Amino acid sequence: MPSPEKAMQPIIETTGLTRRFGDLTAVDHLDLSVAQGEIFGLVGPDGAGKTTTLRLLCGLLDPTEGSARVAGYDSARQSQSVKDHIGYMAQRFGLYQDLSVQENMDFYADLFGIVGTERATLSADLLRMTRMEPFRQRQAGKLSGGMKQKLALMCTLLHHPQILFLDEPTNGVDPLSRRDFWAILYQLLKDGITILMTTAYLDEAERCNRVGLMYKGRLIRCDTPEALKRQAGVETLEGVFVNSVHAAEALEAK
Ligand SMILES: Nc1ncnc2c1ncn2[C@@H]1O[C@H](COP(=O)(O)OP(=O)(O)OP(=O)(O)O)[C@@H](O)[C@H]1O
Ligand SMILES: [Mg+2]
Repeated sequence: MPSPEKAMQPIIETTGLTRRFGDLTAVDHLDLSVAQGEIFGLVGPDGAGKTTTLRLLCGLLDPTEGSARVAGYDSARQSQSVKDHIGYMAQRFGLYQDLSVQENMDFYADLFGIVGTERATLSADLLRMTRMEPFRQRQAGKLSGGMKQKLALMCTLLHHPQILFLDEPTNGVDPLSRRDFWAILYQLLKDGITILMTTAYLDEAERCNRVGLMYKGRLIRCDTPEALKRQAGVETLEGVFVNSVHAAEALEAK
């Protein structure tokens, strides 16, 4: 597993980050720090606040309280600068189903103002890296689930982001395609990109440098997979997850 290059330098840092929707606190005083070059996995039950956290970090949603700095910018007050430095692959990424792979990439390149030879070179590189060259002319709607996710990732990478936010990028993808997807993520990490991802798969969380477990908007555990397992006295991250959520529920019931 690639290790973070500059472990002491946080590229994502939140302080008491909070977002309420009416009476519901979706993200509750989150203090999180992610080092440059790290791959950080956010896990938690449905509705724990993972997507809301990513949207706050990407400057797509304003915090109710607290703040986040991403790539050196305040995600609320300098959201455009944040957006220039990050790539965000949403849980339901917007691909145009009736456009081909190449046309989807061209569309996103247009959005980012990437034109001419830069666009041609970049899209050729990305297609090669993801082994999607043979499918360039295929309509996005006719791709397999894994290929759709690879295409979404390529569209997210077109403007050379420093940080990637991936929201359940491999959900519903078969194990072989998931392995391909992870090979791409490791390549990106080698190139110095920082990745913050959410995942429902704990074997994927196991591959991250560190894992944060969210429950009802709060970060209830955060450490390396090894340390989490050791502290909980269990052998799998699934065990950590189940025990921690049960403990949090029991505490609430008191
Ligand atoms: N725009 C919104 N308006 C009102 N409530 C919202 C809004 N967005 C999210 N929520 C609520 O905030 C909570 C956290 O939602 P969020 O989508 O962040 O969870 P999640 O951890 O990503 O869940 P999942 O695993 O299902 O994707 C949920 O209770 C959700 O219903
Ligand atoms: Mg979500």
